[in-house]
Amino acid sequence: MPDPNPESELMDLRRIGIHPDFWYPLAWSRELKKGKSLGVTFAGNPIVLARTQKGEVFALADRCSHRQVPLSLGVVCGETLKCCYHAWSYDKSGKCINIPYLEKGQSLPEGVRSYPSQEAYGLIFVFTGEPIKSEIVPFPDLPGQRDPEFKTRRLSRRIRCHYSFLHENLMDMNHQYLHRSLMGGIKPTLLQTNFGEHWYEAVYTFNRVSGRQSLGEKFMLGQSASAPADSAHDLMRVCTRYPYQTLTFSRANSEKPVLDLWLCYVPMDAEQKVNHSFGLMMIRKPSLPGLIHLFWPFIIGFTEGIFAQDRMIVEKEQAAHDQQGKDQNFEIFSVIRGLRHLLRTQGLPLKNVLEL
Ligand code: FES
Ligand SMILES: [Fe+2]
Repeated sequence: MPDPNPESELMDLRRIGIHPDFWYPLAWSRELKKGKSLGVTFAGNPIVLARTQKGEVFALADRCSHRQVPLSLGVVCGETLKCCYHAWSYDKSGKCINIPYLEKGQSLPEGVRSYPSQEAYGLIFVFTGEPIKSEIVPFPDLPGQRDPEFKTRRLSRRIRCHYSFLHENLMDMNHQYLHRSLMGGIKPTLLQTNFGEHWYEAVYTFNRVSGRQSLGEKFMLGQSASAPADSAHDLMRVCTRYPYQTLTFSRANSEKPVLDLWLCYVPMDAEQKVNHSFGLMMIRKPSLPGLIHLFWPFIIGFTEGIFAQDRMIVEKEQAAHDQQGKDQNFEIFSVIRGLRHLLRTQGLPLKNVLEL
């Protein structure tokens, strides 16, 4: 992807806010029981999710229009949400529908902002931008979630860094050295990059140059290739399709991936230095029924180890940025430069996000 300007002339990527005009997962469905509410945040904006007695989910600004206290402290009554303080009630559209002590001749105030919401894949998604756009912005489609050949592991963690560090971490396969204690020596080879207006993809293959493969990795991805990269064709595709990221791994002899990972890094605070990473890790089950359950603890152990190393390093990157007050990165890898271009052009300067 062409990026004609040197990094130094560009806006600091770590001060680019994620674009709100998308469907973002803000909670897991199982976290929100019938008749309950849950307070979450998106880029510093408090949002309350409520599940009515009928099981329907709705999302409102988490501030009562009376005294701005969190509505998430309130009570779900039937299909409405009642503030815990003076019992003003709101319906799913955010309209204030009842004030118990409204005086004669007074009319009800307008209420609070509502956000379009949808549930899918065990997640509650909220459209955080202009509501009208929710009708045209595509909802994430995850075919692996409908495929019984996959078993899904849900990933949920709060990570203290700007979302861009995570996009870069996953797409930059040159950081295998960080994982040497868990993966041994793996040599990535970049085969190609592909891109469009809203996405950027890197395709790699790998071969083992030293060390041994762990059981968890072997059970998840199969035996790693030791042949030179040009004869091995296990393929790893890492794609940022803004604002989501996916990683698929397919064996040389099969088109179908053995691993299909979907991720979304949702900024929680106004400065976007903390994110909640939601992930669905779909792993193809071995052909022998039930074998996946035997393999599962090894797969979990392996992936947790890798994620812990990644989390440690991206949080260090954020800490360095905080201390230095700017992005001092000296990036030479064309893939990361291409990815940064995408993230910069798709996002919004932070101050603009704050004004939304
Ligand atoms: S603050 Fe919510 S009803 Fe008064
Ligand atoms: Fe990593």
